[in-house]
Amino acid sequence: MAILIDGKLTAAQIKERIKATVETSVANGGKRPHLAAVLVGDDGASATYVASKEKACADVGFKSTVIKMKEETSQDELLAVVKRLNEDHDIDGIIVQLPLPKHLNEQVVIKNIDYHKDVDGFHLANVGKMVLNMPGFLPATPFGILTLLKQYNIETRGKNCVILGRSNIVGRPMANLLSQKGLMADCTVTLCNSKTKDIAYYTRNADIIIAAIGVPEFLKGDMVKEGVVVIDVGITRIPDSTKPRGYRIVGDVDFKQVEPKASYISPVPGGVGPMTIVSLLENTLKSAQGKKLTWV
Ligand code: GUN
Repeated sequence: MAILIDGKLTAAQIKERIKATVETSVANGGKRPHLAAVLVGDDGASATYVASKEKACADVGFKSTVIKMKEETSQDELLAVVKRLNEDHDIDGIIVQLPLPKHLNEQVVIKNIDYHKDVDGFHLANVGKMVLNMPGFLPATPFGILTLLKQYNIETRGKNCVILGRSNIVGRPMANLLSQKGLMADCTVTLCNSKTKDIAYYTRNADIIIAAIGVPEFLKGDMVKEGVVVIDVGITRIPDSTKPRGYRIVGDVDFKQVEPKASYISPVPGGVGPMTIVSLLENTLKSAQGKKLTWV
């Protein structure tokens, strides 16, 4: 039986700490952290994520501003909003929810966010700092995963870590962070993608597997070895009329098959998801405090 990596509980504990820090700081005349989120278009999942981020801000005593823009928003209109947020001294963190509608250029938009307020850690300056192991904003999901590994005292040094999925948001930064020298790192990392031949060859040799491909229940029991640590980043919505929302969230791991062989496993929901949001809060708090950022 695996130990469950409880992201919901860990995130709740971190939120309590952030809330207490904010209250003390504000009582001493400090500034209340302020996160601005830009949501373009009508993507249901994106709207849900932004609403969750807004609620999380309220939970810990942050200010939040959500700017909703129509699907047909032009690149110039979006850049004008980003510029205004960059120049607004009250705002500590800016996120532009991705994906953007197809006619907008995500990289150009991200590049125009002031990197001192880039609490998503997507700006090329923060990506560069991460690669060079310099203080900067870490992307929220990898940051959250590192925090979970640390919370559960999972040894990473010298371990074979296989990451499934090479996205800019999860897989590639995760590979970078775990291959670096230091705490919660020192792994031998294999980064698999959809063209990888015989993925099971890699996963069967893995001590740690991070699944971030968005293919529901992709990782099966016969693809892992006994004692593996499994982190499931998948969050695919599957239509389900028995659920109040009309869908259920399914991860990239076949939990029933993999859990009996694993030493640690993160569930979906309640694993990585809550940690992503709390990491965004941590970045926003640090931005408001003007602190230099370090690893977890
Ligand atoms: N879309 C999926 N994940 C993220 C995230 O962490 N930040 C933003 N801005 N968009 C996303």
